[in-house]
Amino acid sequence: MSGQTPKLKTQRPKAKGQKSRIKNLKPLIIAIDGPSGAGKSTLGRLLAHALNLLYIDTGSMYRAVALAVIQSQLDPTDKDAVVSLAERSDIDLAGEPDSLRVMLNGRDVTEQIRSEAVTDMSSIISSIPGVRRAMVSRQREMGRGGAVLNGRDIGTVVFPDADVKFFLTASAEERAQRRFIEEQAQKHSTSIAQTLSEMTERDRRDSTRTDSPLKVADDAIVIDSTGRSIQEVFQKMMDLVETAAR
Ligand code: DC
Repeated sequence: MSGQTPKLKTQRPKAKGQKSRIKNLKPLIIAIDGPSGAGKSTLGRLLAHALNLLYIDTGSMYRAVALAVIQSQLDPTDKDAVVSLAERSDIDLAGEPDSLRVMLNGRDVTEQIRSEAVTDMSSIISSIPGVRRAMVSRQREMGRGGAVLNGRDIGTVVFPDADVKFFLTASAEERAQRRFIEEQAQKHSTSIAQTLSEMTERDRRDSTRTDSPLKVADDAIVIDSTGRSIQEVFQKMMDLVETAAR
């Protein structure tokens, strides 16, 4: 393994034009971890927008690697080959938080990385330590000037000293319901029961892998969004960021 990291450019926040209620502070690093369907993306975008910070959806980086693996017809059990491909892949997150585009080797793959095959493959290849090393080093580089990052290991591994750490969760049924609606938009779902069982399997894989499993950081604020509106959870998170940033 060469130890290289993938080239990854990212969007820069606008110097002006976006309003934040939190002013004149050092750039904040905000970690949002949690299982799938917990609302990390929606809330991460909202927070990044409100705070004028970069938004880094780390799951989309693992998804881009997964797509590269599928397109190259690599055997995902050939770990060295997958790591080498991850290191060579040029992944780019471009645009504003609300309209983030994911580029792989210069091609827009924003929609493709949401397919069922990629969702499955990303859960498999993200358990490979060399893939994680490459992504984590890039995420640290991208986020060090301040960012909202969402993923599974942001508060535990990527930025253990993050200014604010959230762990978002919700009941499995509600998370499956949200995922099912997203999947219907992608036209690849069959039933909520199937979504729930696939999601449970991915969560099991993400939580039990040896390298950087999904877990609550000791100093994370756990928010259960079951039965709560996005607006309500957003407000609570903003209040907590403001308190932490004082
Ligand atoms: O958040 P998501 O569903 O887009 O993530 C896709 C996969 O990548 C998921 O199986 C978990 C994995 N992942 C990870 O292992 N670490 C991260 N920081 C982000 C995602």
